[in-house]
Amino acid sequence: MAVMLWTLVFVAFSAHLVAPSRGETCPLLKNNNKATFHGTKDTYNPRETLSYSCNVGFRLKGSSSILRCEKTGKWKPSNATCQMIKCENFTIANGKVKFGHLKFNTKVNIRCKDGFRLRGPSVVTCGADSSWTPDLPTCEEVLPVQVTCPPPAVPNSSGQDGYKMEYEVGEHATISCQEDFELIGSSQVTCGADGQWQEMPECRLARGNCQPPPYFPNAHTEHRDQRHYEPNTAVRFKCNHGYRMVRGPSTIYCRNGQWTALDMICEKKKCGSAGEIQNGRYQYTGSLFGDTATAICNEGYHLVGVGVRHCRAHGWEGRVPVCEAIQCPEPPLVPDADLFFDTDGIIKHGSMASYRCRYGKLIGASDIFCTEDGTWSAPAPRCEAATCPAPRVKSGVIVSGKRPRYQSGNPTPSMCTLIPFTEGLRTRPQQ
Ligand SMILES: *[C@@H]1O[C@H](CO)[C@@H](O)[C@H](O)[C@H]1NC(C)=O
Ligand SMILES: *[C@@H]1O[C@H](CO)[C@@H](O)[C@H](O)[C@H]1NC(C)=O
Ligand SMILES: *[C@@H]1O[C@H](CO)[C@@H](O)[C@H](O)[C@H]1NC(C)=O
Repeated sequence: MAVMLWTLVFVAFSAHLVAPSRGETCPLLKNNNKATFHGTKDTYNPRETLSYSCNVGFRLKGSSSILRCEKTGKWKPSNATCQMIKCENFTIANGKVKFGHLKFNTKVNIRCKDGFRLRGPSVVTCGADSSWTPDLPTCEEVLPVQVTCPPPAVPNSSGQDGYKMEYEVGEHATISCQEDFELIGSSQVTCGADGQWQEMPECRLARGNCQPPPYFPNAHTEHRDQRHYEPNTAVRFKCNHGYRMVRGPSTIYCRNGQWTALDMICEKKKCGSAGEIQNGRYQYTGSLFGDTATAICNEGYHLVGVGVRHCRAHGWEGRVPVCEAIQCPEPPLVPDADLFFDTDGIIKHGSMASYRCRYGKLIGASDIFCTEDGTWSAPAPRCEAATCPAPRVKSGVIVSGKRPRYQSGNPTPSMCTLIPFTEGLRTRPQQ
């Protein structure tokens, strides 16, 4: 209640202040499609003002959006000055545009003529500033791709050297065949719109001629390098190196453009046995061309000659090797030692030689063996003579021949004989 009262008091007071109420009053204007009035009361006294704003799609014309009440009871200006927002129509080169309205917010579709491509938006809208957004597109010409044909390629045709690198659509080229080939179809060809030659002819081998002879396993012919063969030509096959013919015939003939059948069969040559080896044998991968035989000697024998033989086209290469008994040299003699070993002329692999020292100590192996490489399993031992320390005689001294140690002598290796100084040995009588 208090607020309302204060407002009324204020309005009455301000109206009284601005204009002494003489003359007609102005009525509040009604809102219309263009403008909305911001009125606070039904009537206005002279010199009072009324503001308004333009509705969506309309724009203020001029700079002021305020009306003023005149003494005559008329508003000045007499009405709101709002203008409809409109965009300009436009044209697009090589494009198609259809306008309905040119009002604010109107959308316009844009298309290009055939052969042109749109660059930019396909739809534009009339904006509040009377311009179309986004920026208008353009229509660009779509350049056709240049279609060409490559030089015509017909197998076994001639005259390729005369061809151009590229042919335009609709251009012609002439095909001719190599010698002994005949043209099937038209000799003139045309480059098509798709870049392909149209109705290409064929170069077929002239009637009765044969193509190079086919391949046969394990056989060959010297006549494969010709491109074609005249009727009734005979081509002879030979078995490859290391192979022999087990069935014939080996000749084919060109008849009515086809080769007769080849019945020939080539098999690997056989080498058979590589031979007998005394005190040994052969181990084979096989006995046909390309196989190998490896000589293996029995135990106690070693190989003299080449151990591996290859089966070649002419047979086993090389000769049968020899397996020789493994022999050791006579065992070495050792001073002061007796040697025992079996011998019947040769010392075979596995034979043993034994050493025994006559006196002194045996250093090394007493038994050595003849190994498979014909050497002894260990070096011969040696006999190390025993020595004695100087004798000690109770209450006695050595008066001559004094040495730190003494060699042992025959025949008792374990006893020292103190011959050189027994005569000089004196005893002192005990007190
Ligand atoms: C003001 O303009 C609107 C729109 O043109 C119209 O409808 C209205 O009658 C006008 N008012 C007066 C008082 O002329
Ligand atoms: C654009 O408007 C003008 C004038 O209103 C008119 O003469 C012309 O034909 C219009 N152009 C298009 C493309 O609508
Ligand atoms: C023609 O040429 C092709 C390759 O250029 C060759 O393979 C063919 O054997 C030849 N002969 C025939 C009759 O096609």
